Amino acid sequence: MDVLVIGNGGREHAIITSIAKSPMVGKIYCMKGNAGIAEIAECVDVNFMDSSAVCDWLKHHKNVEYTIVAPDDPLAAGLVDALQANGHRAFGPNQKAAEIESSKAFAKSLMKKYNIPTAAYEIFEDYEKALEYVRNGKFPVVLKADGLALGKGVLICESLQDAENGLRQIMLDKAFGAAGNKVVVEEFLQGKEFTPGEEVSILTFTDGKTIVPMVSSCDHKRAMDGDKGLNTGGMGTFSPCPFYTKEVADEVMEKILLPTIHAMNAEGRPFKGVLYFGLMRTPEGMKVVEYNARFGDPETQVVLPMLKTDLMEIFQAITDERLSEIKIEWEEGACVCVVLASGGYPQHYEKGKEIKIGNLDKEVFLYHAGTTRENGVLKTSGGRVIGICAKGKDVEKAREIVYRNIQKISFEGMQYRHDIGIKYIKSI
Ligand code: AMP
Ligand code: GLY
Repeated sequence: MDVLVIGNGGREHAIITSIAKSPMVGKIYCMKGNAGIAEIAECVDVNFMDSSAVCDWLKHHKNVEYTIVAPDDPLAAGLVDALQANGHRAFGPNQKAAEIESSKAFAKSLMKKYNIPTAAYEIFEDYEKALEYVRNGKFPVVLKADGLALGKGVLICESLQDAENGLRQIMLDKAFGAAGNKVVVEEFLQGKEFTPGEEVSILTFTDGKTIVPMVSSCDHKRAMDGDKGLNTGGMGTFSPCPFYTKEVADEVMEKILLPTIHAMNAEGRPFKGVLYFGLMRTPEGMKVVEYNARFGDPETQVVLPMLKTDLMEIFQAITDERLSEIKIEWEEGACVCVVLASGGYPQHYEKGKEIKIGNLDKEVFLYHAGTTRENGVLKTSGGRVIGICAKGKDVEKAREIVYRNIQKISFEGMQYRHDIGIKYIKSI
């Protein structure tokens, strides 16, 4: 069958690479795609935030039988609902289910109601009340704008003054727009060994009845080495996570994954798609930091290369609610992805820089994010430009291959983290 994929980042490049291997899949289209995706799919320049434009395009492309909606914004805007209302088969949660990501207030209330372990919190719509609460609380404290904010609506405040500034930024100055109409004020979760960053990403497949975790992975959200600098969309990942043992996975299945699926069903919002659990290892056990209603980026770039089962077959089973019938298998070993970003990202950066790529080792694969081709020349067109990836028998081997090959890629201002996967090597 011919397939449409919605999105334009490294995650979509990884999804398309994976489904392209399926004997079920014919031609692949991508709205809007990038220069890397254009090598395996036909890129379509339609605004995917306009659901009637997408439905209209599909009316003129009757050969396309299935659409995969990958990014958070169109899911939150109800693109899957619009496609299904037009009789089209689409992968991804509907708008009500996607609220588990698009409203942090909803996600927190759900966890409280169904006893799913997470940081203690209060929700405020009134600035003065929020201010009074933080004045009487402990530090650090975490402030979260309720809505979607490109992964930037979370502020970790070390002092009262930071928290006062943060509340003003979110609630009064509306630094994240309407996402800041409500704010979640949350307890800061300390890692088990009292180090920050004991976080793990668990992406799962679910059809609302069955939930199947993918291999674990770890993201690096801060811009600079040593977890310094601003929060970004993610600067690199590795899989698997060293502390995510079978014992931890069993605890998470029982206390977090299954209760979340049951909770969504009980609320009349069955979740079908990929549900992402951002988890923290704390002295009291694993707790939820966040939910995402989709594949993570750049987690997908290290998880899907390890998948042995046909991804399209899994998608179809989810749509038809027969996920329990499928056996999902993974390769042994590890995978690492390092994001090459434009100088200045996540703040101001320039685009249109020529990208030069030398002769890479055959084990290396690239997932493009912000790239474009102008008159045959590959150029940068976004903050995160390319994810360079490799598999290996372990993280150490995979990261060695990746870092050796980074030297062969260049563009003006290129920046990247030098310590992706170091955490893993230190902890074994
Ligand atoms: P989020 O956008 O919810 O993933 O938050 C961004 C990052 O902020 C997370 O990956 C964590 O590193 C950190 N964070 C969020 N909530 C907490 C919390 N309650 N305690 C400690 N760190 C947190
Ligand atoms: N890598 C985190 C996310 O996709 O939100």
